[in-house]
Amino acid sequence: MNLNTDYNIKNVGSEVTLNGWVQKVRDLGGVIFIDLRDRSGLMQLVVRPESKSHDIATTLKNEYVIKVTGKIVAREKVNNNIPTGEIEIEVSDIVLLNKSLDLPFEISDATTALEDTRLKYRYLDLRRSAISSNLITRHKITLAVRNFLDKERFIEVETPVLCKSTPEGARDYLVPSRVNKGKFYALPQSPQIFKQLLMVGGIERYFQIAKCFRDEDLRADRQPEFTQIDIEMSFVDEDDVMDLAERLVAHVFKEIKGIDIKLPLMKMKYDDAIKKYGSDKPDLRFGMEIEDLTDIFKNTTIGFFRDIIDNGGIINAIVAKNAADKYSRKEIDKLTDYVKTYRASGLVYLKFEEEMTGSIAKNLTEEEKNNLINRLGLEKNDIVFIIGNNYSITKTALGALRCKLGKDLNLIGANDYKLLWVVDFPSFEWSEEEGRFMAMHHPFTSPKDSDVDKLLTDKANCYSKAYDIVINGYEAGGGSIRIHDQEIQQKMFEALELTPEQIREKFGFFVDALKYGTPPHGGLAFGLDRLVMLLTGTENIRDVIAFPKTASASDLMSECPNVVDNAQLKELGIKIEK
Ligand code: AMO
Repeated sequence: MNLNTDYNIKNVGSEVTLNGWVQKVRDLGGVIFIDLRDRSGLMQLVVRPESKSHDIATTLKNEYVIKVTGKIVAREKVNNNIPTGEIEIEVSDIVLLNKSLDLPFEISDATTALEDTRLKYRYLDLRRSAISSNLITRHKITLAVRNFLDKERFIEVETPVLCKSTPEGARDYLVPSRVNKGKFYALPQSPQIFKQLLMVGGIERYFQIAKCFRDEDLRADRQPEFTQIDIEMSFVDEDDVMDLAERLVAHVFKEIKGIDIKLPLMKMKYDDAIKKYGSDKPDLRFGMEIEDLTDIFKNTTIGFFRDIIDNGGIINAIVAKNAADKYSRKEIDKLTDYVKTYRASGLVYLKFEEEMTGSIAKNLTEEEKNNLINRLGLEKNDIVFIIGNNYSITKTALGALRCKLGKDLNLIGANDYKLLWVVDFPSFEWSEEEGRFMAMHHPFTSPKDSDVDKLLTDKANCYSKAYDIVINGYEAGGGSIRIHDQEIQQKMFEALELTPEQIREKFGFFVDALKYGTPPHGGLAFGLDRLVMLLTGTENIRDVIAFPKTASASDLMSECPNVVDNAQLKELGIKIEK
């Protein structure tokens, strides 16, 4: 079956049959023009008064489904905006295949319909090329991935969706068992344990386009069910996995965008990423690095700076070049509210104009002013944003502000791609909530060989063999070399303060498996949805998923989640608390 865009000026004179939807009908006093839409695009149909289909043509409305036969002719007036713009079909026959109700919104890429309406009628939304073209790109990406990995001798293996609940960061989605009343399956947050068991099982090179489920707070780049390109390899070290993964990404960029990605990708240490960009997923499409000013203010008399420094905090800044005139008091208040959402207590600014102005300008000594000008390379019309707080809040808040300013000030080129590896992650992060160190990735992540001894004695300075691939400020993927040595695994569990009972209950089968000749292994997983977002240029993850969930994890079309019959609950032995 041919699609509209299979035809062009070379086919003039051919008799063709096409199927599709009526996008638009225009009756120009007898001659009727119809835009026929199919997945590939539009084709203009011309129905003349003498055509036997003229009567049917007068009854057609938007979204009616038709089959037309006719001859391809050259258009008098070419439309350069569509691929079929040089031709049209002189229709000889129209068959009405189906009618349509009036639509809740127009099928147009420029629709102004609210996203909720589009999600309720997602099957109509999918008719818009803005969405369907993303699905086509998604298909091409998975195809490119499968071809690449097949050539590299990986095999695709499916792993279970009904699993045992294991702690992995986010909350599990649970599925009650009818046969084993009171017991639950969990949906996998990732196939992590299974892919490692495949390595124990001698599969050596595994991949899977895998559905993952996480009951976590949703954001513009997160869905409760999403897809990973999941990869695991045996007998490898960090560089082997990163080499494979970056060649895969380069292959996808070349296939989908025709872009050559220069390899090897740069590597940045986690600590440096936080220090310079306030994020473990730095967006390198623009500069505006975070500068440390703590030493410049070491003798400051400005009260709150003094307090911060005396309490072991830091004072950092970013500079927006040539932008001082863009920020009124009101704009700066908005930015202040913004950084407060990242727990900063306030935002200090300095404008470098004829002289320095801004919230603390009057309280600066000449020496401090000169030091600031030299350190930050200040020029006329620059604006400096300063935050002081503890290390983590200062970096995070300035990092977020940096990304916001990058967007607001249009510092990011439209077709710019900046890829890098973030490496040398700490093994642990301190949890204020739990009052203990938690695994930064998962408990199977190998520490650096040189840091094995720190697992129990110096957790704050223990680094791991973990790596993330970052594209344009998104964490596109991440992974690690795993612990294959049971003694180290045991130490790791101990470091995470898991009791032998907890270890047995949660990971018993897995710990047992490690005892049977486990090969050294490692891998990573890409977020497929995020890769598609990056390659299609959308910032909304729902645009690249056929049937996505809303921010409150609901499907507005099928109205799910929803209540179930009492009989179903009874069978499962479940009572709902009112
Ligand atoms: P991680 O949890 O980092 O690693 O996930 C890997 C990648 O999956 C994507 N991702 C998501 N995408 C959309 N919605 C979400 N809720 C979501 N959560 C994660 C991100 C992320 O980089 N098993 C390990 C991988 C490994 O160690 O091999 C894992 O799942 O792009």
